[in-house]
Amino acid sequence: MPVIIEPFRIKSVEPIHFTTKEERRSILQKAGYNAFRIHARDVLIDLLTDSGTSAMSSDQWAGIMQGDESYAGSESFFHFNDTIKDITGMPYVIPTHQGRAAEKIIFSILGGKGKYFISNTLFDTTRANIEFSGAEGIDLLCEEGKHPAVPAPFKGNIDTEALAQTIKEKGAANIPMVIITITNNSGGGQPVSMQNIKQVREICSANNIPLFIDACRFAENAYFIKLREEGYSDKTVKEIARELFSYADGCTMSAKKDAFANIGGFLAMHDKELAMRCRNLLIITEGFTTYGGLAGRDLEAIAIGLKEVLDENYLQYRIRSTDYLLQKLITAGVPVIQPAGGHAVYIDAKAFLPHIPLAQYPGQSLVCALYEEGGIRSVEIGSLMFGKYDAAGNLVPAMMELVRLAIPRRVYTQSHIDYVAETIIEVFSKRNSLGGLRILEETPLLRHFTAILEPVSI
Ligand code: F0G
Repeated sequence: MPVIIEPFRIKSVEPIHFTTKEERRSILQKAGYNAFRIHARDVLIDLLTDSGTSAMSSDQWAGIMQGDESYAGSESFFHFNDTIKDITGMPYVIPTHQGRAAEKIIFSILGGKGKYFISNTLFDTTRANIEFSGAEGIDLLCEEGKHPAVPAPFKGNIDTEALAQTIKEKGAANIPMVIITITNNSGGGQPVSMQNIKQVREICSANNIPLFIDACRFAENAYFIKLREEGYSDKTVKEIARELFSYADGCTMSAKKDAFANIGGFLAMHDKELAMRCRNLLIITEGFTTYGGLAGRDLEAIAIGLKEVLDENYLQYRIRSTDYLLQKLITAGVPVIQPAGGHAVYIDAKAFLPHIPLAQYPGQSLVCALYEEGGIRSVEIGSLMFGKYDAAGNLVPAMMELVRLAIPRRVYTQSHIDYVAETIIEVFSKRNSLGGLRILEETPLLRHFTAILEPVSI
């Protein structure tokens, strides 16, 4: 395959800070073995998230200067509004300060005790906002999605049979919404096929249940459809994106991902009445309807970013560079989710560290080892993030124990990625010497952000 080069040149650079392994050991201990508690300055390559960490383009920076900061009716809002309407076809667009603010608004209105929200896989903040409203979230991932090492083109799909069955069991009236997360972040960044979205639409229509899309990485998902689904290779990514949004009643989006923005999000929908209720909440929590929780300059950067992300040269480079890291790991025998996700590579920590019991968080142990070895920050998506306790206080583990290496957009070069692969392979060669962790302090919701842990051997 020909080399696919970064489709940009670098105009502005930011130094990264080197530390020694000794220093990193002490940093880890002070951070309670939780990568969220490490100062960014002490991280060499930061793969904690692809959220808000993109490099903005020169056009976006120019847009920042041109942002209209008017409280009401800002020009930048109309640019934002028109761009989102053009891509989604949804007439009511509501800016928010990030994705979870959009979630908070919609689930406060539609959630509550006795309600169920069904998804392929809910992201952690989405699930937390649903549960905070008193409702329950149900993940119905397709069978292929549950087997990390078995490649399949659309491992993010919802299990449509289980969806129909669950609607019957819980009662359509108790299900305010089905949510498809594209790509499926917590399930390996895997895409959802157009056919799956269409089938879910049919099931939702037959039961009178609205379908929403969690659209954070819609362009990456659309590009996978172009590459992998029959009938789409000649369509533009924009046409594919428009088609997939056409099956939905609404969407939530974090602009910190596929819009290349450092902050921002939105809600968009077809239902005027629901939009009015959302805007009422928006005004008391986020801000007036033409800025949400954002500055005019942010709205401008998002509008420009949403156009840039549909550039297929960019998407080809993006998907290819994630796969580049994956292939290096596969060659070295490191257990990973296959194929590569759009925004991230996911290591299967259960297979990497089979000697560490799930109740000692093998994923988190690997996160710490990658930091100690090479100053690389990653994130556990496993039982620390999603585990629950049963009545006896025993851990009910998550479905998978993953370590995500999320690749910020347009930030790192191929040699940075070569270094990441080398570090992981080095840790893999001494995996038998790694031990587990125990939790010392935790919160009831989203505990992974703040938990304090210690090595079990202590
Ligand atoms: N939905 C998905 C699928 C996400 O990946 C995220 C954020 C959100 C919703 C919430 O958006 O951060 O703007 O409030 N994901 C980040 C991550 C944090 O690291 O994957 P937000």
